[in-house]
Amino acid sequence: MKCQLIAAIVAFGVGCHAIPTPSTHVLHEKRSSLPRLWERGGRVESDAILPVRIGLTQDNLDNGYEYLMDVSHPDSPNFGKHWTAEEVHDAFAPAQAAVQAVRDWLISAGVRPIDIVHSDNKGWLAMNIPAWKAEDLFRTEYHEHIHSDSGAVRVGCDEYSLPEHIREHVDYITPGVKLSASLKRSLVERSTPLHNKPGPYKSHYPHDPHWTFPPGAGSLPPDLQACGRNITPTCIKALYDIPNAYIKDDVNIMGLYESGDIYSQADLNSFFAAYALNVPQGTHPKLDSIDGGEAPVAPGSEYNTGESDIDMDLTFSLIYPQTVTLYQVDDNIEAFTDGGFNTFLDALDGSYCTYTAYNITGDSPGVDAVYPDPAPGGYKGPLACGTYTPTRVISVSYGVSEYDAPLNYTRRQCNEFLKLGLQGHTFVWASGDYGVASFPGDDSDNGCLGNDSTVYNPSFPTCPYVTNVGATRLYDDQTILDRESAMQADLGPSAELFSSAGGFANYFPVPEYQKSAIATYFAKHDPGLPYYYINADASNIGANGGFYNRVGRGFPDVSANGAELLAYVNQSLGHWWGTSLAAPIWGSVVTLINEERTAVGKGPVGFINPTLYANAWALNDIVNGSNPGCGSAGFAAVEGWDPVTGLGTPSFPRLLALFLGLP
Ligand SMILES: *[C@@H]1O[C@H](CO)[C@@H](O)[C@H](O)[C@H]1NC(C)=O
Ligand SMILES: *[C@@H]1O[C@H](CO)[C@@H](O)[C@H](O)[C@H]1NC(C)=O
Ligand SMILES: *[C@@H]1O[C@H](CO)[C@@H](O)[C@H](O)[C@H]1NC(C)=O
Ligand SMILES: *[C@@H]1O[C@H](CO)[C@@H](O)[C@H](O)[C@H]1NC(C)=O
Ligand SMILES: *[C@@H]1O[C@H](CO)[C@@H](O)[C@H](O)[C@H]1NC(C)=O
Repeated sequence: MKCQLIAAIVAFGVGCHAIPTPSTHVLHEKRSSLPRLWERGGRVESDAILPVRIGLTQDNLDNGYEYLMDVSHPDSPNFGKHWTAEEVHDAFAPAQAAVQAVRDWLISAGVRPIDIVHSDNKGWLAMNIPAWKAEDLFRTEYHEHIHSDSGAVRVGCDEYSLPEHIREHVDYITPGVKLSASLKRSLVERSTPLHNKPGPYKSHYPHDPHWTFPPGAGSLPPDLQACGRNITPTCIKALYDIPNAYIKDDVNIMGLYESGDIYSQADLNSFFAAYALNVPQGTHPKLDSIDGGEAPVAPGSEYNTGESDIDMDLTFSLIYPQTVTLYQVDDNIEAFTDGGFNTFLDALDGSYCTYTAYNITGDSPGVDAVYPDPAPGGYKGPLACGTYTPTRVISVSYGVSEYDAPLNYTRRQCNEFLKLGLQGHTFVWASGDYGVASFPGDDSDNGCLGNDSTVYNPSFPTCPYVTNVGATRLYDDQTILDRESAMQADLGPSAELFSSAGGFANYFPVPEYQKSAIATYFAKHDPGLPYYYINADASNIGANGGFYNRVGRGFPDVSANGAELLAYVNQSLGHWWGTSLAAPIWGSVVTLINEERTAVGKGPVGFINPTLYANAWALNDIVNGSNPGCGSAGFAAVEGWDPVTGLGTPSFPRLLALFLGLP
């Protein structure tokens, strides 16, 4: 019976108004007004059981960057000395003394020790106690609140207090002044349905029957003569001097994230037979299914739209005999609405499921998929939490705009990337395919922000703890001996301005490791476009007619070829374009480097950005092309780092030498 009562209270939510605060208690949180359409109802029955959570203030988040640099900066004596998950939890958990102080107070106030639960990630204390007890502890009154449209009921209070010596240890308490705020995906209306997959773009094939080999091609081996028009794994290996892979070990299995798109074995087989004879027919990834993700499908399936096929084509052809783990995330209903990647991170780190930061605990319904999925045919299992061990390298070619998720949501998630980086994991992420805009229909018809859609719209995640990958291309009249340009092309309706996404985040400031590269960019190659300085809550995007945030984290970090890849999807051969291609190329490069490090007894490279920014010589700088959009010129690829192609494309021999030279 007790459980039933708890469930009912949770579902109906709780509210309260203040009673006089005795001298030992001090006001902790107070609400100025109720959210629109919510009205206060009756007092909660005094013996109703409330699920009370006390969010403890986290220690050490301010030190997170230093910790990550300590294991990731090439000059650090602790480079590569990654932490265990337990060490990460302990470092960011509230100090034991703080936990003890709050517990002691609760117990002295009559809460039974056995009723107090300390969460797995150590971030909060939980207990189920009668309303009268909670009201006494927090010197408040709980009321029901009713939503005038939907009739939904939640519990909360107008203000509450805590003993003075406890306040510093407590972030906030629920139920409290917030009526379990539901997060909105986006702050603006969309004119077209959401589609969270700027996947690769398929252009016509063949597009020009009159194309002839460029001058100079004749001196190249036959399988490298057409790389300006038809990119194959052989072309990519030649461009970046990537040797034929030969290592298969247990620890460097590469991870690929996929969601809503599903690979077809027949398509992989056709690709291997045509362009990657080193990979045997039937080679497939190990499936780690997350929240109902399934794979593979038949080639003609509506879920086979190219992304997964191409990610696997490139990855297997570059790293085989090394194997691949496929994280197929979300059921086929949620996959198209889950824009935030939190369900993926939940599955990789159970503590993230209940992690509290920036006033958010756990997933955010409205941004994240919810499991069990109530939709007909949805996945009915519980949310996957800590189900899988993350691979050392994970490549992701999906994204929406940064603006689509609330600022605090992205900050909380970015902390998780920091923690996974501390543990030696490398995340490579496609930057997006619409230059300075997001994809058409994301936030506005042209994918841009501001009242007149002229403000640039950075792609998510702009977190400085992932390696953001842009794209490059060769032109028709070029060979692998030419320097690549930024990927840009007119690929037809709604993709006229297809190009390597890049620019400056609104949600994250320039990280220390990138400061000198960005300062040099502005000093030597100022784009001459109007800009603004973002404010603390990122509420002035586009202020003063500016197009971009002058003080934001710049992206991408690096780039690789993302044009004219020949591949089969639904058994039909096409040319594929996008930063979707570039991310798995970088993921493969890092995997091959990790293998060589493993072979000499060293650990994984982990978070690579600080090493790359300090050693730009190890990349091929890209200096031609641009990413126009939102009615203006966008940015140009220039000497040094730029917000189109980052530091450039991989030179495998130089990168290998660099990383083998580190501890
Ligand atoms: C968020 O938490 C802080 C304490 O960290 C608190 O002062 C603030 O009122 C909270 N904000 C909201 C919107 O709940
Ligand atoms: C796959 O190709 C077949 C044969 O051309 C076609 O009938 C089918 O509609 C295609 N499937 C999809 C999802 O486009
Ligand atoms: C975001 O997080 C900060 C820091 O915890 C907090 O002060 C602020 O109120 C949060 N904003 C929202 C909208 O919850
Ligand atoms: C959009 O219009 C509103 C109302 O006129 C104004 O307050 C706001 O500053 C404008 N935003 C931008 C980015 O121009
Ligand atoms: C430079 O990029 C432009 C497109 O911006 C392209 O037309 C031109 O062919 C490129 N030149 C070289 C040398 O790659």
